[in-house]
Amino acid sequence: AAAAAEGKPSFAFTEVEFGVDETHHVAAGYDADILIRWGDPVLADAPAFDPMKQSAAAQGKQFGYNNDFVGFAPLPLGSNTPDHGLLCVNHEYTDEEVMFPGLNGEQQKAKFAAMTKDLADIEIAAHGGSVIEIRKVAGKWTYDPKSSMNRRITGETECIITGPAAGHALMKTSYDPTGTKVRGMLNNCAGGMTPWGTWLSAEENFNGYFWHPDEKAKGDRYGVPGRWYNWGAYHDRFDVTKEPNEANRFGWIVEIDPYDPTSTPRKRTALGRFKHEACSVAITKDNSVVAYSGDDERFDYVYKFVSAKKYVAGDRAHNMTLLDEGTLYVGKFNTDGSLEWLPLVHGQGKLTAENGFRDQAELLIKARLAGDAVGATKMDRPEDIEVNPKTNAVYVMLTNNSRRKADQLDAANPRAENLWGQVVEMLPPDGDHTATKFTWNILVKGGNPQLAEVGAMFHADTSKNGWFSCPDNCAVDNQGRLWITTDQGEGWAKASGKADGVYAMETAGPLRGKSMMFYRVPVGAEMCGPCFAPDDQTLFVAVQHPATDGTDLYKPFGKLSTFEEPATRWPDFKPGMPPRPSVVAITKKGGGVIGS
Ligand code: FEO
Ligand code: CA
Ligand code: CA
Ligand code: CA
Repeated sequence: AAAAAEGKPSFAFTEVEFGVDETHHVAAGYDADILIRWGDPVLADAPAFDPMKQSAAAQGKQFGYNNDFVGFAPLPLGSNTPDHGLLCVNHEYTDEEVMFPGLNGEQQKAKFAAMTKDLADIEIAAHGGSVIEIRKVAGKWTYDPKSSMNRRITGETECIITGPAAGHALMKTSYDPTGTKVRGMLNNCAGGMTPWGTWLSAEENFNGYFWHPDEKAKGDRYGVPGRWYNWGAYHDRFDVTKEPNEANRFGWIVEIDPYDPTSTPRKRTALGRFKHEACSVAITKDNSVVAYSGDDERFDYVYKFVSAKKYVAGDRAHNMTLLDEGTLYVGKFNTDGSLEWLPLVHGQGKLTAENGFRDQAELLIKARLAGDAVGATKMDRPEDIEVNPKTNAVYVMLTNNSRRKADQLDAANPRAENLWGQVVEMLPPDGDHTATKFTWNILVKGGNPQLAEVGAMFHADTSKNGWFSCPDNCAVDNQGRLWITTDQGEGWAKASGKADGVYAMETAGPLRGKSMMFYRVPVGAEMCGPCFAPDDQTLFVAVQHPATDGTDLYKPFGKLSTFEEPATRWPDFKPGMPPRPSVVAITKKGGGVIGS
């Protein structure tokens, strides 16, 4: 950061050439090694992966599907060990058409017609998260498939509901008349690690799991029932006509202690219920804990939570209660560059029983409606948020919003039919994350800077490889450098015409807004992770859903992937072996800091 202020580049590497092909690519001089793949054993008694004979029992002991968030918990707890730790990985969702033989993924109806209870149960077991013990020996990472620290959390693992909404009438079901426990976590997208060594795993598009027998059933403010999966045809809890409250028990931040494989995950309701993309924690000078989280939906909001109690260094049991009590705020981004944090507190302003919020618990369960009531700024799909601990700047990835019309523009969301996204920087006064007034500005606007009609904004030195569209996840390394990953989805050809990847982003000094491509994914994949080891000598990334998004636009393949014929068989490239979402460990040949 000091170098950047003088105009020196923060990064030194040769960019990856943009493009799309069947494999992944990293900058010259680096190794990108597969650490673990979908189906690899996580628990000591896991059977070997056989995609033709998969079962829910096997999947529940093997690495799940669609690795997303990656967090590194050093071993031992409390240390800063760079070469031994627990890797915490979310498994966001499943792609039946490339997981199972014989399914046609092109149409929901055809897919559902071919689904069975056995396949649905495999999917449920492929969700959740994994913890694996990993170690770097002679410069190379391996995981220990026999470690007793390893853990699988699935869509069936019992979680505890804590905070203001625990026990509320809207949280009670026939399985759980107390409203305090729920089976599973679902659609865990990104997340965060806390300074006290826990893993925050963010439940995102939970609406898609809830089923209604009538395919025309209208969705609520959260899109429930979404009917993306037909689990409700086999399990009553996912059928909203049978268990209307079950959907209220998803859409939370889940706190997990990775150091205790027997610990129960806790859904922290004080942080509100929405499509949490991620959760990023800062500790302020007065030891308040502030947690930022975005709601990934077109026209939804950016939130922050401020703890009521203070962080106490060394008192882990106490710190593990901090996310249960505090104030949730929602962001209002004003044209003059000010950012107001509006408290979502029952009884204040419009947040009353007359307006549909009987108490604070109901307000938190319906956080989106509370955000509507107070007039928060409707954003272009808030994805990951990260705090830069060196500068206290907070980065918000706004991925895109194809539905924004020309008469719906505002300063923070300035483009209509925004296919490309933007990165917003939020600046707390004097680094005080608890403040209710910040300032904000735009760091970059995605898209091709050569096309005037796109209205992109990058530093002029950004190369043809370095600009991007659709920022999604991000990480700040231990030197305060920002790294951004992209997810263009099925629209990749229009958004940029190149595969997703990892970009190194200058944030300060004369080069602010310069971006460089460091890594790119195989066709149809999305770039998740990213996570640095404590010495910045390893970058872990998660390659999610290879061979799925927009493979019909990939020449000469020209069609949607199936299990039998995927656009790529990355990373194994073995006949009959489907593509496998995998975590990749990137290291510099001969050692050294990534990007230096
Ligand atoms: Fe799971 Fe918003 O990406
Ligand atoms: Ca994503
Ligand atoms: Ca992140
Ligand atoms: Ca995304």
